Formats: sequence, structure tokens, C-alpha cells
Amino acid sequence: MRFRSLPHLVRRFFGSLRARRPRPRDQIDIAAILHGEAARLFAAQRPMDQHHALRTARQVEIAAPHRPDLVRAALLHDVGKAHSDLGVVGRSLASLCALARIPTRGRFAAYLDHGRLGAADLAAAGESGIEVAFAAHHHVTESPAAIDPSDWALLRTADGE
Ligand SMILES: [Fe+2]
Ligand SMILES: [Fe+2]
Repeated sequence: MRFRSLPHLVRRFFGSLRARRPRPRDQIDIAAILHGEAARLFAAQRPMDQHHALRTARQVEIAAPHRPDLVRAALLHDVGKAHSDLGVVGRSLASLCALARIPTRGRFAAYLDHGRLGAADLAAAGESGIEVAFAAHHHVTESPAAIDPSDWALLRTADGE
């Protein structure tokens, strides 16, 4: 996981404090897209991560209304954060460790590795293609070889992480 700057971390910290679980009508929309294990992985996320995933998916949906695969990738990209089960303060500390290149282990390491962990969960749940690729590499600017660079840029911009 890469981090851009301290100001970015501060913005993310305060944004996370405001985040709430999706409202009932949003949960209905999510249930129409995610089923089975994918739905379970989404629901296992903390409310702030569900909020972030939904916001990301809404932005993708507006920009690419006929691309359900991209919307799905946006909804699922951070499911790996459930492995660390860290709150806002713990995440900020883990991110600061990464920024300062301080070695981490345990839940901090799991948080910083949430892309790979989430991609593994999604692959085990039967997901593939851009859903798994975006979960695995969503902190990387360059698109993987098999992924359209404009799709990647759209997802990355919507994620804003
Ligand atoms: Fe992430
Ligand atoms: Fe994200």
C-alpha cells in the first residue's frame, strides 16, 4: 500500500469520522448487485468502509452507467480491510508507520496489505477480472496489463484513496 502525503492522511482521517453505514435504500441497491459471498464480504466491512465503497461505486456509476463490472469492482475493492479490523486511529497509525517506513506486523500489517488480502477473499468467493485486479492493486497508478487504462483511471479517481 502506498501513501501520498501527510495531508492526504489527515483528510482521510476526518472523512472516516463522518462516515456511516449505507442507508436502507442504498443497502437495497447494493443487495441488487452483490449476492452470496460477495455480499457477505461487503457486509463484513466496517460502516465507514461500506460508506466509502458505496460512494466510490456511485461515482463510477455516474461516469460509466453501462459498466456493472466497474461498479462491482468499486463496491468490493476494500473488503480486505476487514482482516485488520482497525478503527480510524489504528489505521492512521498504521499509515504513519508506512509513511515513515517503520516495519509493521499483526493488524497494522494486515491493514497495509488489505489489497492483497481482499483480492484473495474475492478470488475464493468466485470473483475474477477487474473485481479482483482492482482490489489487489487499487493503490497503484498503472493499470495491470489485462485492464483497460481508462477503466483503471476511472476507478482510481472514484476511489480517491
Ligand atoms: Fe484501499
Ligand atoms: Fe478505497
